[in-house]
Amino acid sequence: MKLSSRQLIIILILLGIATDGYHCKVVQFIFGDSLSDVGNNRYLTRSLANANLPWYGIDFGNGMPNGRFTNGRTVADIIGDKMGLPRPPAFLDPSLTEDVILENGVNYASGGGGILNETGGYFIQRFSLYKQIDLFRGTQDLIKSKIDNEAAEKFFQEARYVVALGSNDFINNYLTGVYSDSWKYNDATFIDYLMETLEDQLKMLHGMGARQLMVFGLAPMGCIPLQRVLSTSGGCQEKTNKLAVSFNAAASKLLDKMSSTLANASYTFGDNYDVVNDVITNPSKFGFENSDSPCCSFGRIRPALTCIPASILCKDRSKYVFWDEYHPSDAANELVANELIKKLGFLQVDPTNSPSPAPASEPTPDPEG
Ligand SMILES: *[C@@H]1O[C@H](CO)[C@@H](O)[C@H](O)[C@H]1NC(C)=O
Ligand SMILES: *[C@@H]1O[C@H](CO)[C@@H](O)[C@H](O)[C@H]1NC(C)=O
Repeated sequence: MKLSSRQLIIILILLGIATDGYHCKVVQFIFGDSLSDVGNNRYLTRSLANANLPWYGIDFGNGMPNGRFTNGRTVADIIGDKMGLPRPPAFLDPSLTEDVILENGVNYASGGGGILNETGGYFIQRFSLYKQIDLFRGTQDLIKSKIDNEAAEKFFQEARYVVALGSNDFINNYLTGVYSDSWKYNDATFIDYLMETLEDQLKMLHGMGARQLMVFGLAPMGCIPLQRVLSTSGGCQEKTNKLAVSFNAAASKLLDKMSSTLANASYTFGDNYDVVNDVITNPSKFGFENSDSPCCSFGRIRPALTCIPASILCKDRSKYVFWDEYHPSDAANELVANELIKKLGFLQVDPTNSPSPAPASEPTPDPEG
């Protein structure tokens, strides 16, 4: 007996075998700034926040710049790997298609971006968090046109969400004195303004299906090399650190509230302030040798805006907490990721999805030497 394909479909339906159900993978959608950017700013050709230069990416893949603002992996890369989740490509990556999104998720993070639209204006081009959420809405429309609505809804509800912004709202806005936010607000009212904005943004994401979401806290940003050069002693800027502590306390409270009031929401806050502060104060306790200056540095001309081709690299990148004036090294990111995993107790999502290998922890030769 020969069956037509129509008869075959009817038989499959009668047998209860779904012919159109899309079996969704668990993927991640990442919203963030340069600490999580995996290449969006490479395609924002007028952006002044760009990591498309040697020696960014020297300990990642083929060692060429890949858009990450560090020598190796970001904190979100490492956490995703340990959860068994694929690494989402940059939204602006030309190879992004519906199938790639369904398999890997999307990363909207953009260097220079903040919670506030006005943050980082002098970088000319960057995606602020509202813009990133707009782009996510576009992604949802695309997926809904590819798979049926019910399957799409399930896909977005099962996905994991990371929101990691805030330091630029201080470093590249409030603390600069060049934006109106600097004089319109004081420390307390500026943090209230950030929290109101973040609450609105997280509610939008919840309305779009985000159920499992984590927000990363701010590290002691007054201790980044760029802030240290502001003082003659080279010490940390305590005022800046206090702002990070206040931001973290307020964000933690906000996330607790949202988690208990939004339907089916597991919204968590990952505070890493104390561990990073400990590493900066006692680097040798954690196997680091330097916690106050960038591994990639242009000699005595500091601060250089970014690591540049003419920069000299430190001898052993795994011994430096900071990669450039702003950003931690792969080794420091690993420590932060481990701390967040310990605190938030992540479970492996898909153990069959083997993590990508970590970059070599062996000291690699100085490319200048
Ligand atoms: C922020 O920018 C988005 C577009 O990215 C816009 O839709 C929104 O109205 C702006 N919000 C504020 C408060 O300016
Ligand atoms: C919450 O979860 C329950 C059970 O899975 C579901 O029936 C309900 O529609 C969900 N509500 C929202 C708003 O997601």
